[in-house]
Amino acid sequence: MKILVTGAAGYIGSHTALELLRAGHEVAGFDNLCNSSEKAVERVRELSGKPLRFEKIDLLDRPGLDRLFKEGFDAVLHFAGLKAVGESVEKPELYRRNNIEGSKNLLAAMAAAGCRRLVFSSSCTVYGEVKKNPVDESHPRAAVNPYGETKLAVEDMCLALSQTDPRWRTALLRYFNPVGAHESGRIGEDPKGVPNNLMPFVMQTAVGRRPKVRVWGKDYPTPDGTGVRDYIHVVDLALGHLAALERLDALKGAEAINLGAGRGYSVLEVIAAASKAVGRPIPYEICPRRAGDAAAIWADPTLAKVKLGWSASRDLAAMCGDHWRWQKDNPQGFA
Ligand code: NAD
Ligand code: WQD
Repeated sequence: MKILVTGAAGYIGSHTALELLRAGHEVAGFDNLCNSSEKAVERVRELSGKPLRFEKIDLLDRPGLDRLFKEGFDAVLHFAGLKAVGESVEKPELYRRNNIEGSKNLLAAMAAAGCRRLVFSSSCTVYGEVKKNPVDESHPRAAVNPYGETKLAVEDMCLALSQTDPRWRTALLRYFNPVGAHESGRIGEDPKGVPNNLMPFVMQTAVGRRPKVRVWGKDYPTPDGTGVRDYIHVVDLALGHLAALERLDALKGAEAINLGAGRGYSVLEVIAAASKAVGRPIPYEICPRRAGDAAAIWADPTLAKVKLGWSASRDLAAMCGDHWRWQKDNPQGFA
């Protein structure tokens, strides 16, 4: 298939573009590079040995999108968006405009071009305060921050579109906590500034960029008192997108599907596994809880198995080993 990847220079977009090329698809990508480097795209070309057309375009640039869609695509994988929860609280309008208006623009350009196959990067954040684990797709949705609001809004837009025009086929993939990197160590996550997420912070500590990991809370009702999350290897996640593309035509309109490993690890378990991968203890200190954090959340990944024939296969040791190879070989990321 001929696939367009939005946010192709980003963490998940670059890993997915690589797997698409390896599977024999023709891929073009765009990104406005607000949170990424074009070097990621160059490295995807190098790893795949295949051409990957890339343009610097913004989701909000409708003429730019229309020009791109003249090429004719069979499907779009839509990763482009802003994703920092804290920043979304400080700048809700920026998030609404970029993520909601940007996606609206993309959907309109797709409709105008007659391209109606879409895979959208949704998030477990749409489950809001989780009532029971594991979380399946029927769990009520709620936004607990402006970032979450944007994911709900785009999911709703996709649902409405497929109700008004039944030719649309959309997978709303709700990712849990993506970590890890390609096993080559050539592409990986390169957060700008101080990382908010656990794994990049742990690995930047291991490489000497941060003095120690701050563990946000040890008084949660979890086995060791620290927060529990469903970490998923980014290559498993990328392969989940391939599976979604292949099964898209069998979906009913727009369908939400969890992409998680289906088990939870605590913060201390992650630090221990990362220390093992690195070969020495990673320093940490216990700090007060971070506002807005849940005690525990992990996915019920059954629907992904049933609908997409996909399940995650890489364990926490692989997530830490691969993330560490990327961090060690690229201590300053793509800089
Ligand atoms: P990322 O920041 O590495 O990638 C997103 C890319 O989109 C970046 O390269 C950025 O430059 C680009 N972008 C942002 N706004 C744009 C715009 N207006 N026009 C063009 N490009 C734009 O993030 P990621 O981790 O790869 O996330 C990809 C998607 O998955 C996002 O939509 C994110 O919300 C979603 N998601 C991520 C996680 C996670 O923890 N990483 C979890 C669930 C969902
Ligand atoms: C994981 C655990 C922290 C950093 C976020 C978004 C969510 C989704 C995935 C996009 C928690 C603890 C963290 C640190 C710590 N993204 N922690 N010290 O909060 O589960 O989810 O990313 O859609 O929407 O909210 O991920 O990696 O920040 O935290 O102790 O320095 O690690 O308290 O228990 P989170 P995270």
